[in-house]
Order: sequence, then structure tokens, then C-alpha cells
Amino acid sequence: MKPEPGRAVLLTGPRLAIREFHHTPGDVDALHAVFGDPETARYLPFEPRDRETCADQIELYIEQAEADPRTAYRLAVTVLVEDDPEYAAPIGTAVLGLGEHRSATIGYALRRDTWGRGYASEITALLCEFAFDALGLHRLEARVDPENAASVRVLTKAGFQSEGRIRHDLCLRGTWYDSLLFSLLEHERVAPAGERR
Ligand SMILES: CC(C)(COP(=O)(O)OP(=O)(O)OC[C@H]1O[C@@H](n2cnc3c(N)ncnc32)[C@H](O)[C@@H]1OP(=O)(O)O)[C@@H](O)C(=O)NCCC(=O)NCCS
Repeated sequence: MKPEPGRAVLLTGPRLAIREFHHTPGDVDALHAVFGDPETARYLPFEPRDRETCADQIELYIEQAEADPRTAYRLAVTVLVEDDPEYAAPIGTAVLGLGEHRSATIGYALRRDTWGRGYASEITALLCEFAFDALGLHRLEARVDPENAASVRVLTKAGFQSEGRIRHDLCLRGTWYDSLLFSLLEHERVAPAGERR
């Protein structure tokens, strides 16, 4: 069912929750721990961000959440805390940016000390479920740095197919970078292990 306009998103998986960002010092610090880390930002389409920029970003995310129609879901990822998924500290971000013709671009980033636990795969599964089931979308795409083997693996495991290489997709500090383009159509979804679709 499509979420009502202005309604806060809360997605929960076996180990993670995905919720709206709050403009609190805790959420700003948490976002800065992800976007301020050069090792994490290396594969993101922007330079490492300072704390003030992260605070501004959260303000923007909240404005986007209140827009009607809403076209951007920039959400906080937390470890699932049974009694209070709304306020656990974020360990990363999950993004869904709506396009035309029932399409969206997905993205994710995690704090470095949480890599390698399967969290990005869980985020991708939750974003796919939200996009296809709640928003009724038909096509999801993701753009990945060709060097980002972990993200290519996450997408491939989720059933995304390669559509090739976008040459000079973005320009950072005067240098052009290519991206790999991946997509998943609604009928191609891969069921999480142990579930039948
Ligand atoms: C990409 C990122 C989100 C992955 O998060 P994660 O929680 O560690 O990912 P998962 O554990 O779900 O899965 C990673 C998969 O890639 C594999 N992998 C990790 N590093 C790899 C490497 N260097 N080469 C090949 N495979 C690799 C893992 O083994 C795992 O596959 P498996 O489940 O078959 O073992 C995380 O590294 C990150 O935040 N990176 C910086 C931001 C970023 O790149 N965002 C994506 C932009 S498109």
C-alpha cells in the first residue's frame, strides 16, 4: 500500500531498521561518521563531508520527506532495537530517488566498522520491498563505481543486472569518473533466503 503523504517511513528487517532522519545532534554525528570518512566517500559521488554539511543535509532530507508528492527517500539505517527502532543511532544511509515511469535510483552507505556483516544486502532487500510493494514501482537502478566490488556483489546477489558502463558519469575536482549501471525490474526480484515468491 502506498504510504500516505507526510507519513514517516519505517522499514524493519531481521537485523536492521530504516527510518527517517531526525535533526538531532546524534543523527548529525552518525551521518558525519559515514559521509566524513574518506574511505567510505571514496565510492560516493561527492567529497567527504564535514559535520556542518551533514547537518544541512539532514535538514534537506527532512524537507524532502515533507514534500508532496515525495520524490526522495533519504533514510537512516540503524541496528534494530526492538523497543525503539525510531531512536537507535544510525550506522548508515539508504536512498531511493524517484524518477519517471515508476522508476527509482537506489543507494546505500554504511559506517566503515559495520561493513562485511551482510547489512547492505539487507538494506537492498528492504528498499526493493518498499519500492515494489509499497510504492508500486517497476524499475530500480543503481550506479556504482567500477572499482566498488562489494557494492557490485550486493546488487548482483539481489538480482540486479548489469546494463553496462556510463562513461564520464560524474566530475569531481575536475576529474571525470565512469559508473556501472545496474537495474532490477519488478518481476526479477530475488526472494530473501528461505522465502518463496
Ligand atoms: C558497499 C557497502 C555498502 C557494502 O556493505 P556491506 O554491508 O559490507 O555489504 P554486504 O556485507 O551485504 O555484502 C558485501 C558483499 O561483497 C563482498 N565483498 C566485500 N568486499 C569485496 C571485494 N573487495 N571484492 C569482492 N567482493 C567483496 C562480500 O564478501 C559480500 O559478498 P558475500 O555476501 O557473497 O560474501 C559498504 O562497503 C559501504 O558503505 N561502502 C562505502 C559506500 C558505498 O560504496 N556505497 C555504495 C555506493 S554504490
